[in-house]
Amino acid sequence: MVPLKYWKKMYDNHNPMNCYASLKSNFKISDMWHVCSEKKIATSHFIPWFLVLCFLQFSCDRDNKNPGYEYFPDMAKSEAYETYVPNTAFADGKTAQPPVAGTIPRHIIPYQYPKTRDGMKQAGKELLNPFETTEENMARGKHEYDAFCANCHGFDGTGDGNLYTSGKYPSEPPSLVTEEILARPDGEYFHIMTLGSSIMGPFAALIRPEDKWKIILYIKNDLSAHNINKEY
Ligand code: HEC
Repeated sequence: MVPLKYWKKMYDNHNPMNCYASLKSNFKISDMWHVCSEKKIATSHFIPWFLVLCFLQFSCDRDNKNPGYEYFPDMAKSEAYETYVPNTAFADGKTAQPPVAGTIPRHIIPYQYPKTRDGMKQAGKELLNPFETTEENMARGKHEYDAFCANCHGFDGTGDGNLYTSGKYPSEPPSLVTEEILARPDGEYFHIMTLGSSIMGPFAALIRPEDKWKIILYIKNDLSAHNINKEY
């Protein structure tokens, strides 16, 4: 084996003849041939690999605010404006522009009742359930009720939802299958689902308006038929 210090010497020395000269006193000629011919290979590989290493070294960056050089960033960076980025094309500097004043999207009917007791009573008088009590509508209502309401009000409507019984939700949800609650007009339910009710959060746009009406059909007919006045 050739000791390390000679390998170093070999790299210092670019000329193979100098390589022989520098090793002459220490090695047999066969060893010298071995070292000096390898040197040519070693130096010719060494420089490009060194450059690659340098490149890799500087292609990593600790600054996570700056992506550094990116290779084909087109997938990450849209050429079009993203919804919430600044935009000099509009006077207010925003990309997402509000709807033109006085217009509403086709499929949205603004909810005009305030979140007060009077607002709820008013909604109860004026909003009528546009759907009929059919098996299909109630099945859809059950699907949505089980997804959005049962975790608090319980699958049977008595208020024993898992969120409450597990102790994760602090306030006991009322039973929805008492005569008193069932006697309330559909519009009041719709109002409560849309805006929430004191501690119960609003479902606003989370549930489609037509599904809210179908949930009410399900609670008032199917669910209550099986569980009316049941205690849990
Ligand atoms: C995170 C728990 C939670 C979820 C989910 C929830 N509720 Fe409630 N709900 C409550 C609580 C608590 C109350 C009682 C608080 C209050 O009086 O404001 C309540 C009250 C109500 C009331 C009024 C009862 C009364 O005595 O006035 C109705 C109706 C109602 N919820 C229907 C629903 C429907 C329908 C859904 C599903 C779309 C639903 N709730 C989802 C917790 C919940």
